Amino acid sequence: MNADSHADAILAADPARIERALEDIARRSLPGAGITRWGYSQLEREAHELFAAHFRALGLECRTDAAGNTIATLPGTDPALAHLGTGSHLDSVPHGGRFDGIAGSVAAMEVARMLVHAGIRPRRSIRFVAFATEEGARFGQACLGSRMIAGLTSAEDLDALEDRDGVTAADALRGVGLDPACVHEARWHPGEVEAFIELHIEQGGILAASKTPIGVVDVISGSTRLAIDLTGTASHTGGTPMYQRADALAAAAAVVLTAERVANDNRHRGTRISVGKIDVEPGSITTIPGFCRVYVDVRDVDPRRQRDTANEVISAAHSIAQERGVGVTAKLLADTSPVTLPLAVQRHIVDAAASMGLGYRVMPSGASHDTQMIDRVCRGGMVFVPSLNGGVSHAPDEYSLATDIARGTDVLVRALLSIDAASESGWM
Ligand code: GLV
Ligand code: MN
Ligand code: MN
Repeated sequence: MNADSHADAILAADPARIERALEDIARRSLPGAGITRWGYSQLEREAHELFAAHFRALGLECRTDAAGNTIATLPGTDPALAHLGTGSHLDSVPHGGRFDGIAGSVAAMEVARMLVHAGIRPRRSIRFVAFATEEGARFGQACLGSRMIAGLTSAEDLDALEDRDGVTAADALRGVGLDPACVHEARWHPGEVEAFIELHIEQGGILAASKTPIGVVDVISGSTRLAIDLTGTASHTGGTPMYQRADALAAAAAVVLTAERVANDNRHRGTRISVGKIDVEPGSITTIPGFCRVYVDVRDVDPRRQRDTANEVISAAHSIAQERGVGVTAKLLADTSPVTLPLAVQRHIVDAAASMGLGYRVMPSGASHDTQMIDRVCRGGMVFVPSLNGGVSHAPDEYSLATDIARGTDVLVRALLSIDAASESGWM
């Protein structure tokens, strides 16, 4: 069978296989609520090994690149053509869900299975990718594996990123058998890959509430992450009169509420901010907190508003610190711009959904994704599938139906094949 008969082929993702693969990967987790599978950990590597084993069983070549991304390739009939790609990530936030990243990785597994079992050889080779360490939860910087593919993170940058235990990203790579000095070898050069489409759960409740099976992402929000350090005076809770205090945590509380107020004001429709973590020292009930580090994450689809908002939070922190007699410094942990995804890829996804009679909605992504980075080296696209339980994500109650993921996978494979079937220059 060749590309011309793709339209006639029966390509239906199997929800039962998807369910089983999700279950297998979910078993690779630290104990505790939900899923904890840190980037560049042994558990993440085990999940990558499961991913790789699936493609090897299909007879495809599969390798781990210098950044720890796992990449299988279905060879196309024309080796001169740039490749297509699909995939997502396999790490999680602490106590996260079993679908974020995994749904898109399992969708890639299912796309390969369908094509191999249907005997379809596309003209373009297709890369199936599990990216390493997408979550910023460990090192502050998100999308490390895909950033290295795009040449956005270097070996020196890996030395500067640390997790909560002071382990650098470079050491974490060494810990799983990778050599940080070689990460430049992971780069995809412009022209190597034509288009990459990632399936992901929505991580919000819009598709489910509107009973829409497919989201087509037009913009992926940017993210600016700050560490704001507030230094007060640790002292005795009972002995220190209220007027003589410099309480770092009380100042931190004011910063949190100010950030929330900023995101809710009229100029910030669409801005999202949270303080997801605060370090408090000395962390004793009987001592006034002498030091706090407040971690602020600003998300926006508008790059200027994103940076202006981060600056507004920093200047508010300075005013609060001055009023309260505490010291303040702010450090930029990570800064990624929003990305507008090319209309051409959106159109192929829309046409694929329409050809199946499925409703779709073009929508922004509030979350960061590997496609944001990969779009630097090829044309990126994203298919969203509904998140249930009110859209909760990065939490144990994250839930999507295998049947919804299967429908998204059916759209994904058709969009890839329609790009493959289009003329080299005519598809975009
Ligand atoms: C990635 O999951 C993010 O934090 O947006
Ligand atoms: Mn994700
Ligand atoms: Mn995530």
